[in-house]
Amino acid sequence: MNANAHVIVGASLAGAKAAETLRLEGFDGPLVLIGDESERPYERPPLSKEYLIGKTDRETIYVHPQSWYSEHDVDLRLGAHVTGVDAAAHEIILADGSRVGYAKLLLATGSSVRRLAVPGSDAEGVFYLRRAADSDQIKSAFAVASRVAVIGAGWIGLETAAAARSAGAEVTILERGELPLLRLLGTEAAQVFAHLHRDHGVDLRFGVQVAEITGAAGRANGIRLADGTHVSADMIIVGIGITPDTQLAQAAGLQVSNGIVTSAQLRTSDPDIYAAGDVANAYHPLLGKPIRVEHWYNALHQPPAAARAMLGRDVAYDRVPYFFTDQYDLGMEYAGYVEPGAYDQVVFRGDVAGRQFIAFWLSGGRVLAGMNVNIWDVNDTIKAIVRRGGTVDVTRLANPDVPLDELLAG
Ligand SMILES: Cc1cc2nc3c(=O)[nH]c(=O)nc-3n(C[C@H](O)[C@H](O)[C@H](O)COP(=O)(O)OP(=O)(O)OC[C@H]3O[C@@H](n4cnc5c(N)ncnc54)[C@H](O)[C@@H]3O)c2cc1C
Ligand SMILES: NC(=O)c1ccc[n+]([C@@H]2O[C@H](COP(=O)([O-])OP(=O)(O)OC[C@H]3O[C@@H](n4cnc5c(N)ncnc54)[C@H](O)[C@@H]3O)[C@@H](O)[C@H]2O)c1
Repeated sequence: MNANAHVIVGASLAGAKAAETLRLEGFDGPLVLIGDESERPYERPPLSKEYLIGKTDRETIYVHPQSWYSEHDVDLRLGAHVTGVDAAAHEIILADGSRVGYAKLLLATGSSVRRLAVPGSDAEGVFYLRRAADSDQIKSAFAVASRVAVIGAGWIGLETAAAARSAGAEVTILERGELPLLRLLGTEAAQVFAHLHRDHGVDLRFGVQVAEITGAAGRANGIRLADGTHVSADMIIVGIGITPDTQLAQAAGLQVSNGIVTSAQLRTSDPDIYAAGDVANAYHPLLGKPIRVEHWYNALHQPPAAARAMLGRDVAYDRVPYFFTDQYDLGMEYAGYVEPGAYDQVVFRGDVAGRQFIAFWLSGGRVLAGMNVNIWDVNDTIKAIVRRGGTVDVTRLANPDVPLDELLAG
């Protein structure tokens, strides 16, 4: 092994933030950041929002300027796929057979899109969205498409539907569940997103089963549902979830269960291997259980904690989970964590019909999560309420005239 090299596999947001922290914290040994994409690390949220609708250009998506890597002596290796981890030898193995030794290794391999497995799904005109090039291709297709069908009413489905509407297309969303974002938000708040898209002219169809992508000459022209209905489309976007990229960890014998299992220090079952970002199923001290989070904020803040732990610092990652979205004129932030269905009350505060409100999810009178919609500068207080635990006065929680800060006191 290289006695003092630190190696990071996965050169995206998580990998880049870990590299940054290692240098900030004074690590001056060899630092290798390896990724199989051709682009230097970039952020994905703009790919389904401002970048997709042409409001921002490519330069704005990157985590660091190109020069940052050489300035900080980070050996950034792009287009390099890591095929294995030899934990006993403390080496990773690249697709070309070469090996790189490590003292500490961070796996920040993220996740990959789940693919649709129905006849015709390989046809031209069927798009997935994970990488910058996918966003470019979808943007080009929007320029000529007049009917867009979206499969899945999760984050990708809803955000690309909004982008397609702003590009002037007719949009149909096909979702197998009964509402958009249902597992995450529950029925009460998920309705808000159904209304939002209907109000913007989207044809939303729930409880449907996609049976086939129809087409001619290898090009998709629509979707056949299990009940025989046909939805015509010039292009199809599939957003049916992701799977964490755990293959390296699994083959190396690390503990894997819904992601790479780690401690609150982001340490895996091998003491010299860490994991962070989408791929990590990390023990969360505040929640008292492991969680895997597929969101930007986690990929931004968890890797610095992992980097500090790699340097032997005493850390525990316990930030309140957070995510955001922008769709049409709706901006939202959500802080907290609720397992599907694990709440007994949703309290709304403000104007739900006017889409300017805060929603709180409670269990036994305790706030588990809060979501501010088109109301700003309140999310830190929501995080503090969630962190505080304890019960709240629900009447005061629902009353917009009671300052949120006062609820922190109980
Ligand atoms: C279009 C889009 C929009 C999003 N918008 C939002 C949003 O608005 N809000 C929000 O909270 N979250 C959003 N997210 C989610 C957020 O982007 C992810 O949670 C975040 O990208 C996770 O970062 P990561 O670095 O852990 O993993 P990833 O971004 O998946 O990066 C992992 C990297 O590792 C590389 N890699 C994997 N295996 C190997 C290997 N064996 N060898 C070499 N390299 C490898 C991959 O190619 C990839 O570059 C969005 C995601 C997408 C796709
Ligand atoms: N604003 C954000 O936070 C944001 C934005 C974009 C992407 N992301 C992340 O990107 C990843 C991918 O997003 P996503 O939207 O693909 O996943 P998702 O898990 O958010 O939603 C997938 C949706 O597809 C539905 N579905 C699954 N299989 C289906 C099928 N065969 N037919 C019809 N519907 C089906 C599910 O019921 C679910 O509603 C996630 O990790 C997500 O967190 C986040």
